[in-house]
Amino acid sequence: MDRIVIRGGVPLNGSIIIGGAKNAALPLLATALLTADPVRFTNVPRLADIDTMANLLAQHGVSVERDGANATLTAATITSTTAPYDLVRRMRASVLVLGPLVARCGEAIVSLPGGCAIGTRPVDLHIEGLKALGAEIEIDGGYMKAKAKGRLRGATIRFPVVSVGATENLLMAASLADGVTVLENAAREPEVVDLANCLVAMGARIEGIGTDRVTIEGQERLFGCDYRIMPDRIETGTYAAAVAIAGGDVELIDGRLSLLGSVCEKLHEAGCDISETPNGLRIRRNGVSVRGVDVMTAPYPGFPTDMQAQLMAVMSVAEGASMITETIFENRFMHVPELARMGASITVHGASALIRGVKELKGAPVMATDLRASVSLVLAGLAASGETIVNRVYHLDRGYERLEEKLAACGARIERAAG
Ligand code: EPZ
Repeated sequence: MDRIVIRGGVPLNGSIIIGGAKNAALPLLATALLTADPVRFTNVPRLADIDTMANLLAQHGVSVERDGANATLTAATITSTTAPYDLVRRMRASVLVLGPLVARCGEAIVSLPGGCAIGTRPVDLHIEGLKALGAEIEIDGGYMKAKAKGRLRGATIRFPVVSVGATENLLMAASLADGVTVLENAAREPEVVDLANCLVAMGARIEGIGTDRVTIEGQERLFGCDYRIMPDRIETGTYAAAVAIAGGDVELIDGRLSLLGSVCEKLHEAGCDISETPNGLRIRRNGVSVRGVDVMTAPYPGFPTDMQAQLMAVMSVAEGASMITETIFENRFMHVPELARMGASITVHGASALIRGVKELKGAPVMATDLRASVSLVLAGLAASGETIVNRVYHLDRGYERLEEKLAACGARIERAAG
């Protein structure tokens, strides 16, 4: 298995191009199931998770033509409505084919995704929402077996907790339902907005995009469209955190300050200068120490849980203490013991971690457990003295395109070693 080897202590200077958003691209690719017309996407990130989704859609009968960062998907006929366990277990976002398949074909057999390192990851909200639209769903042999007599019917659905995936599944399903659907307490993440904007470009009628109350007037059919995927705000935040921890001055090309929201506020509070540039944004930390900040993760526009591990790495070398509370997932502190192996001083009390900044981290061999925990270890390695070896790099490849090349281009001493 490949590993990443870093010799830290070098500030980052230069520029990094931000790619298309993984968590927008995954539901967007699934929209191809909603129409027989070709749907053309640009700015598609080249990531393992995107390949997994493309393979899943292909086994449903979708023709997938890829050319670099462009992809054309055509679901002229859907040849299978089953999403098998061996594909779904690899990437839980596969569950996003459920809503489109039931809406287009009136049936779907989709494996339950199962849990993952960061939590049990239930899909009850997806199931309850589709039932409200008139689908009958039974759980049998680890699969969700959904059927709808005729078209789905519009309904009002109130989510008890904010769920990005459930909002996305139901946005897609409701777009072809008969009548009006209202989603209350809907997720407002920019990736959900990107999906809704693409559905509108396909002919869907959606009001309240970007708010927690979204109204969808279902259509008989949807049409193909051309759509450019938004830049990845978590990739942007991750490289901003890299400058925060290593120091330096980097332009993040195609990064959008407006999408960074509370991440920008917290990195500024921690001692960074972040400003908009004509091509994206610029982040600097020169000559000032990292200051400790307190953070509680929350649904958008709160501090994103997908940036929690990265911020913790930065806080581990801050002057003073900081408190990070994870409110979204029940087990998203697996990076803590690995950071501790590098000398970080972190105490976990339930959903909160108290980080006492240390003068210096020391390089060590560390183990990744999930995508964002992996990248937090890379960030720590950028600041640590000596050599850090991050194992199980396949986690990183799921969500970061050419990470070591992008950082090395800014002066980091980082390379991938085939293992
Ligand atoms: C999406 O996951 C993202 N993945 C995650 O990013 C992200 O961490 C998460 O949203 C929160 O922002 C993709 O977009 C592909 P949720 P999702 O449904 O949709 C509970 C990454 O690193 N819940 O918003 O699965 C759930 O347990 C990944 O890129 C239910 O209880 O997250 C969690 O506590 C990791 N029942 C909370 O809601 C349900 O039916 C939020 O989950 C669904 C969710």
